[in-house]
Amino acid sequence: MDHLGTPILVTGGAGYIGSHACKALAKMGYFPITYDNLVYGHRWAVKWGPLEEGDVSERQRLDDVFSRYKPKAVIHFAAYAYAGESVQNPGKYYRNNVVGSLTLIEAMRDHRVNKIIFSSSCATYGIPSIIPIPESHPQVPINPYGASKLMMERILQDFGQAHGIYSIFLRYFNAAGADLDGDLGEEHEPETHLLPLVIKAALRQIPLIEIYGSDYPTPDGTAIRDYIHVTDLAEAHVKALMHLLEERGSTALNLGTGRGYSVREVIEAVEEVSGKSIPVRRCPRRVGDPPILVADPIQAEKALKWQPQRSDLRTIINTSWNWYSTHRCKEFLKEGELKKHFATVERSPKNPPVIKR
Ligand SMILES: NC(=O)c1ccc[n+]([C@@H]2O[C@H](COP(=O)([O-])OP(=O)(O)OC[C@H]3O[C@@H](n4cnc5c(N)ncnc54)[C@H](O)[C@@H]3O)[C@@H](O)[C@H]2O)c1
Repeated sequence: MDHLGTPILVTGGAGYIGSHACKALAKMGYFPITYDNLVYGHRWAVKWGPLEEGDVSERQRLDDVFSRYKPKAVIHFAAYAYAGESVQNPGKYYRNNVVGSLTLIEAMRDHRVNKIIFSSSCATYGIPSIIPIPESHPQVPINPYGASKLMMERILQDFGQAHGIYSIFLRYFNAAGADLDGDLGEEHEPETHLLPLVIKAALRQIPLIEIYGSDYPTPDGTAIRDYIHVTDLAEAHVKALMHLLEERGSTALNLGTGRGYSVREVIEAVEEVSGKSIPVRRCPRRVGDPPILVADPIQAEKALKWQPQRSDLRTIINTSWNWYSTHRCKEFLKEGELKKHFATVERSPKNPPVIKR
């Protein structure tokens, strides 16, 4: 219990996985400081510690935050994560995910913070030749997003050698679901992940689901992915942090369940939970979409003494459904009200314009 109140800097803590991780950290007695530029994150999602608005590429801002909070470790979620967009605009991805991250780890080095958990991805493996995919699988990414994550793994290894920075690379498969208490959920704009789109289709917020590829060599012809509940992911981060704080060395771990579900299975399961039929359109396969992506999670289970507890498809869908159909609306209302409030404060003649960070 000597870790109670230990400050941990969480970049991207206002985003989907980062906000769930902040809740898990606070629950275990850590003090999560969210550092986020809010480009894709949400002010309402920061509930378990302070929000420091800033970009990971802003060195002065980072210096200020490191000096004030003296974090013992960094959990680095902040990144752009749209693989398709990265093909169209690679510079955006390399600048943010690599150059920005480099600024962050140089600041860590100079402030003598030598522990980092890095959000990597199964996208670093490219098209797998073995299923389930072990960590030792060759890493040959097929898009700039995956390449940017692999570059950061390499850079962190070099910083380990040169500056004694310990790192754990967590290679996530498909994060899904929402907080079981309804405090948080997935809110990407634009949304590209399958499950939220299927739920939006069930709620009639979008007209249909496009299925890319119905002729894969899988039992029902649609692509198979390994879905892991976001709270299980969040708990794995806390375990990884404990591992690092005990100075048990750098490592790379897959975070998945070892079990995959097809696009069809996901759609049918949402139809069952919602009682709504979901219109679909069959489309050709997308270039670079592997038929099956399933993790071999054994190493993570052993190293972290962790196992997914809520990653069965039914729990993932129920929590996500709960978020989209009830809590989400309340959160948006709150954020809308906040924005209105700030607009009024800033327009008032008594209050000169505020420069917000
Ligand atoms: N969602 C998944 O299934 C998945 C799978 C594999 C890897 N990942 C990785 O996990 C991490 C979190 O993913 P997510 O789904 O929560 O994404 P997200 O977009 O919800 O969260 C990312 C957060 O980082 C912030 N951010 C981005 N660039 C920043 C910068 N330069 N400075 C400060 N803040 C910045 C955004 O505002 C956002 O709040 C990402 O690194 C992503 O690549 C996600």
